[in-house]
Amino acid sequence: DKGGHKHFMAKEIAEQPRVIGEAVRHYLSGDGNSVTLPGDGLDFTKIDRLTMVACGTAFFACLTAKYWFEQLARLPVEVDIASEFRYREPPIPGGTVALFVSQSGETADTLAALRYCEGKADKIISVVNVPESSIARESDLALPILAGTEIGVASTKAFTCQLTVLLMLALKAAEQRGTITPERQADLLSALRALPSSLNTALEQNSAIARAAHKLAEAKDVLFLGRGLMYPMALEGALKLKEISYIHAEAYASGELKHGPIALIDKIMPVVVLAPRDTLFDKTVSNMQEVLARGGKVMLITDDAGAAEAAGEAWQTIVMPHVDPVLTPILYAVPAQLLAYHTAVAKGTDVDQPRNLAKSVTVE
Ligand code: F6R
Repeated sequence: DKGGHKHFMAKEIAEQPRVIGEAVRHYLSGDGNSVTLPGDGLDFTKIDRLTMVACGTAFFACLTAKYWFEQLARLPVEVDIASEFRYREPPIPGGTVALFVSQSGETADTLAALRYCEGKADKIISVVNVPESSIARESDLALPILAGTEIGVASTKAFTCQLTVLLMLALKAAEQRGTITPERQADLLSALRALPSSLNTALEQNSAIARAAHKLAEAKDVLFLGRGLMYPMALEGALKLKEISYIHAEAYASGELKHGPIALIDKIMPVVVLAPRDTLFDKTVSNMQEVLARGGKVMLITDDAGAAEAAGEAWQTIVMPHVDPVLTPILYAVPAQLLAYHTAVAKGTDVDQPRNLAKSVTVE
């Protein structure tokens, strides 16, 4: 049942305010002042490092979470693609927690990576959408993301629910390790509670994004740029676009632009710049200027403050509501998803069942 939507993907994008609200409530303590983990939970004071492993979109959720665990909990984090991790046979020193993120809980490479860590890591945790899955069953602690069934092959609500649970886990780690003040923790928890309403505001940009997508649909190549937390989001935006619209898309950390990809800039290829008005904004805008100076076409995704400063020169601007910079990945996933969705619809591709792809990759 597509609930009145044309595609499951559209329905699942629209469900995000509700399912994220449910995930936040599930992991909030009764008094709302802290994060509660299921079962015996986890003692992050006894941990020296976190190794996160996943594939595809789930891998980008891990890349995002690396910023959170490092900045909020001061915990060293390694992130790897499951197919690379397992064949490299990395050493797993004592004090390591291994964390696996998987919507299906059945991805062959992720499961094999988990089994590689058995008996080596201090603890094996998973962040999954299917609690009965192999990855959940073989973990010491499985954290459900509560996204509900995801039917569209391109992951949307599972991604933002993974991000929500990973951020709350990072907040738990920060609280236990004493690396966050109670005031900052309270601020972030209340921002998480307010997230469904910010997501609804983001969804109101649907028609504006559909108009921008019509122009994107003519492109053969698209470049996505972002810095900090927006770098993994650029990777995710490019993956979504490739998967369902079949337009070649690449993502770079904005700072890498001048180390090669700037050679691609011309008057034809759209460049999607993800840049909320945060502490890195000026740096990203200066990279955007480098694109503009070469005649490049910039589609800027930012907030009101960012648009006031930088929208003037952009080819297209998509405006998001303001949220605490820590939460921007969960919010900016929405325009990235909608942009890919409407581009695919404009091109007439099979949005829910893109060619060559399967929802669950149970073979290598
Ligand atoms: C992209 C997508 C895939 C999956 C990847 C991992 O939209 O859906 O990249 O994220 O195949 O799948 P899970 O999360 O089931 O392990």
